[in-house]
Amino acid sequence: MESVKIFDTTLRDGEQSPGVSLTTDEKLAIAQQLARLKVDVIEAGFPIASKGDFNAVKTIAENIRDVEIAGLARCNFNDIDRAWEALQKGENPRIHVFIASSPIHMKYKLRMDEEQVLEKAVEAVKYAVRYTSNVEFSAEDASRSEIEFLCRLFEAVIDAGAKVINIPDTVGYAVPAEFGKLIKSIRERVPNIHKAEISVHCHNDLGLAVANSLAAVENGARQVEVAVNGIGERAGNTALEEFIMTLRTRKDYYNFEVVQDTTQIMRLSKMVSKLTGMQVQANKAIVGKNAFAHESGIHQDGVIKERTTYEIMDAKSIGLERNILVLGKHSGRHAFREFVNNLGYELDDNTFEDIFNKFKDLADRKKNLSTEDVEALINNEIYSAESIYELEYVSVNTGNTILPNATIVLKKEEKVLEATACSGDGPIDAIIKALNSVIQVENIKLVSFKINAITGGTDALGEVTIKLEIDGRTYIGHSAQTDITYASALAYIEAINKYMAVKRNN
Ligand code: KIV
Ligand code: ZN
Repeated sequence: MESVKIFDTTLRDGEQSPGVSLTTDEKLAIAQQLARLKVDVIEAGFPIASKGDFNAVKTIAENIRDVEIAGLARCNFNDIDRAWEALQKGENPRIHVFIASSPIHMKYKLRMDEEQVLEKAVEAVKYAVRYTSNVEFSAEDASRSEIEFLCRLFEAVIDAGAKVINIPDTVGYAVPAEFGKLIKSIRERVPNIHKAEISVHCHNDLGLAVANSLAAVENGARQVEVAVNGIGERAGNTALEEFIMTLRTRKDYYNFEVVQDTTQIMRLSKMVSKLTGMQVQANKAIVGKNAFAHESGIHQDGVIKERTTYEIMDAKSIGLERNILVLGKHSGRHAFREFVNNLGYELDDNTFEDIFNKFKDLADRKKNLSTEDVEALINNEIYSAESIYELEYVSVNTGNTILPNATIVLKKEEKVLEATACSGDGPIDAIIKALNSVIQVENIKLVSFKINAITGGTDALGEVTIKLEIDGRTYIGHSAQTDITYASALAYIEAINKYMAVKRNN
């Protein structure tokens, strides 16, 4: 049975979402999880775009195995050289070159005519092929391009050595039947098309990215470019989880083998949401909080009698287990280790020990622990930034009759930094003022501050996500604790630590 190649662009197009900026470590963690899910290609970044992008692509190419790693490049030699420099140690690295092919883009953006674009594309593909035969060519804004030119362009780049031709609906303008027809025409009209794989890359401006990708597959596309939680430029890209689960759930219709380990989806979605600071809407298909929740009595009754009455997918197939833990404060290391392993985490002994101690501590304070609580503890530990500043102590005094005030103690290397501040704007503001007075980073802009209760009940873990903007770049900090003032202080420090690490490495 045939399968459709999954090309994930969360780390490239996804990172182009407004306000998203990931560190190299975070990108590597996402790439590792994408590899566990068994995507075919990971587009790790656009190496020429920045030093950070270059380092991330290089790190991922050097550390991830069994997945092709791609790097994006415009059709010029510098971009291609830089992409190859980052990719070369990868197992089967792919250079992905692109140039726009629509009249609008050629006239206003490139100021080039068709012949110039064609010449540049061919020259770039020939140049990239000197490094690797694994070259993908994208005709940006293909869905608004003239079909005759598009076919001529694809024929020429395939002759030049491109092994994948990508047909992007760059501005999310296409509708499914029309997009399907475009793919079919390209298949029928490009004489050497059998020498290349057809790929599509759809944007979601009209909410049609997944539908357009599926229409493309029905008409011969065998690679689909996706991003986790559908993130990406503007309204985002084809959502990985929706596309894969549609092929899996409707195998009867599409008839493709799905080789991905879909039980990794939920963990991947949560990881991307946490690290990008982009929350998933509750009613989002597959990974939204409500995607498997039944509110109406009739539906609940039906599902209890027979799950398939109202559920077309088993929650377990995406790795969603809503069980209340049977673990508690009397549980030992061995049972906890087994539980963590069953969730799919591979922790080294030191990290495990830290998380186990935090679990015991939480179990002392919270009666009903859930899987989500344990996952939050693990996430606090494994995705936190390098601790340049460490929070030793935070204490707040607040109430409606006093001026809220906060005292904090931080450690930086061996130096102890202490400060107290008060604020008429509340305890969190007082904490941030106290932290800022010792951190001494200029021009910090708090872009957003979100608190979310991980589970129900007044003893729920409070998950704080803070987005800071410093020197034009976004830094996200995150922490889940039973005390939201403590979580706020930790999240703020995590964002500052990310800034310090980026500053130090640049
Ligand atoms: O949307 C687009 O056209 C792109 C290309 C670079 C593939 O992201
Ligand atoms: Zn795109």
